[in-house]
Amino acid sequence: MGTNNGESLIDSISTFEEDIISGLLSTKKSLPSKYFYDERGDELFQQIMHLDEYYLTNKELEIFNRHKQGILDTISDGEPFRIIELGAGDGLKTKILLKYFMDQGAKFTYRPVDISRNVLEILEENLLEEIPELNIQSFEGDYFEALEEISESPERDIVFFLGSNIGNFSKEEAVGFLSSLQEYLKPGDLLFMGVDMKKDPAAILSAYNDSRGITKEFNLNLLDRINAELSADFKRENFMHYPYYNPQTGECRSYLISTVEQEVKVSDELIHFRAWEAIFMEISKKYDEVQLKKLAGESGFNIITSFQDEMKWFSDVVWSKE
Ligand code: AVJ
Repeated sequence: MGTNNGESLIDSISTFEEDIISGLLSTKKSLPSKYFYDERGDELFQQIMHLDEYYLTNKELEIFNRHKQGILDTISDGEPFRIIELGAGDGLKTKILLKYFMDQGAKFTYRPVDISRNVLEILEENLLEEIPELNIQSFEGDYFEALEEISESPERDIVFFLGSNIGNFSKEEAVGFLSSLQEYLKPGDLLFMGVDMKKDPAAILSAYNDSRGITKEFNLNLLDRINAELSADFKRENFMHYPYYNPQTGECRSYLISTVEQEVKVSDELIHFRAWEAIFMEISKKYDEVQLKKLAGESGFNIITSFQDEMKWFSDVVWSKE
């Protein structure tokens, strides 16, 4: 989906090489999940979104279908507005809302933000085919650049941050990201954010440990990418994919674990792995009502309302600037 997951707001200057090497030289090894999304990674994430086990997509789609009128009533006051979508991806889900809003005569422009021009072009083509009258103003760049213009825009802005992208942040990172987002907003602007909720741990774990091994492939693809771009020599058969879910913190964390002692060359560095040493790859955090309330408060947002699917597995929250 060509997404940059917002880390750029906190850390916009480091390069791919610096990030990879410093992650691998840490005592607790890690790799930033924002780098999953090269061309192959985009493709694999598309496949993940179509897996039954990856319930997040269907649940959010269900919310949009069930509550489109309620969502429109909440975000529109009758005046023209802009929808700014951070990490728009292929816009499959957003299309449901955009189409409905248009049919209801809402006056708005749609501004998808993505770092991948390729993704934005596909998105525009898709959307215009189904909603020819839609006013699309794509923005190629990172979240930070896109948000800078929000404070200057004369229109009311509704920031869409869907699909549980917020889950890729730890609690502290989420507060950091949302606080700065909040500062860019004008009075009256809103955040519309998709959040994956705590539920049966078995359901969560299988979303990140699918039976077809697509998620494993998605993780291993980052090693391939490092091999290709930093002339490294990771051997994927020496790593196993291991996700685990902590029901107390709501954190689902994915690791690649080195099954043998080995040395891996990355650029000019030689990285040593002990047998069973892990690389932390990604956090996909789940929330409950209490944690969400705290998150809003600590980042300076007011809770307006929220929309759920029937089983309450997913939630789309509407927050305003305090
Ligand atoms: C795009 C961050 C929402 O964490 O659920 C899917 C990415 N990783 N399967 C998620 C992902 C493994 C996804 N987000």
